Amino acid sequence: MITGKYPGLRLRRSRKNDWSRRLIEENNLTPNDFILPIFLIDGKNKKQEIKSMPGVYRYTLDKIYTVVDRAIKKGLPMVALFPYTEKKKKNIIGTEALNEDNLVCRALKLIKKKYKNQIGIMCDIALDPYTSHGHDGLLKKNYVLNDETVKILIDQSLLQAQMGCDVLAPSDMMDGRIGLIRKSLDKNGFKMTQILSYAIKYASSFYGPFRDAVGSKGLLKGNKKSYQMDFRNSDEGLREVALDIKEGADMVMVKPGLPYLDIIKLVKDNFKIPVIAYQVSGEYSLLTNGINNGYVDKDIILESLIAFKRSGANAIVSYYADKLDKILK
Ligand code: PBG
Repeated sequence: MITGKYPGLRLRRSRKNDWSRRLIEENNLTPNDFILPIFLIDGKNKKQEIKSMPGVYRYTLDKIYTVVDRAIKKGLPMVALFPYTEKKKKNIIGTEALNEDNLVCRALKLIKKKYKNQIGIMCDIALDPYTSHGHDGLLKKNYVLNDETVKILIDQSLLQAQMGCDVLAPSDMMDGRIGLIRKSLDKNGFKMTQILSYAIKYASSFYGPFRDAVGSKGLLKGNKKSYQMDFRNSDEGLREVALDIKEGADMVMVKPGLPYLDIIKLVKDNFKIPVIAYQVSGEYSLLTNGINNGYVDKDIILESLIAFKRSGANAIVSYYADKLDKILK
């Protein structure tokens, strides 16, 4: 590796001028590297700021064109839809997930009809926006059931594919669901619907503000440690990825983001497949609240985002995706 020595060799030579630094840059960001999460809420003419996430809003469907227009204009390849579900629509088995008139389904229809394939749409597959206990699956004696949950996730996947979802993103961490979802999609004529598996999703305290955003804050009974991954582990994550690839995942997600760059790199190095990083709500809140207090600025955000690329991520789900004009400048 070392091709010379001081004083003949001076690495600072190539760092001296801006043109030279630009010439040898190894990583950079463009809007193509981002997926924008959009929070949806029922009602009319509402743009509700999420308290714990300054600058992030829930939108009613009459505002959805404005949001998607902007995303397309900024050159983002994909948006991700997340519904805020009213308490009265939640129950212990998350029935609303399979309602073809639910918020996500209505949004999918509106967006697909107007924009066709100008932008991709990704939707979570999981029951947590719809269950009264806030868990991603069916609960029995405080344990989340696997196989029974997967059956519902298959139906949820089919429904969202029918409504026009381009990329299904199971975020539930049940075993075996990628293969079964793939099989059912293929059988029902959705061969080209992609699956982005949240393959390595840690049971993380960084999801707090998101649960506020989708209205499951305070509802969650216990924690998600019996299905989401233990943050002390990394080998286990590679097993998750290997299984999901075998089962037919097109892309895999690592989540949260910044505290897990080692995992992103491991996945990229070992599997050479598209890896998506999720810079989650708690990360956004920490960085953004810092800004409001005057401690950090856009350069800190840029530095954090570049770190994802350096670690090997192909793209980043980020609440900054619609604020890149300022950050990438
Ligand atoms: C739902 C889901 C969660 C997030 C994305 N999909 C929360 C959770 O699993 O509790 C978190 C996203 C974020 O914190 O920004 N399964």
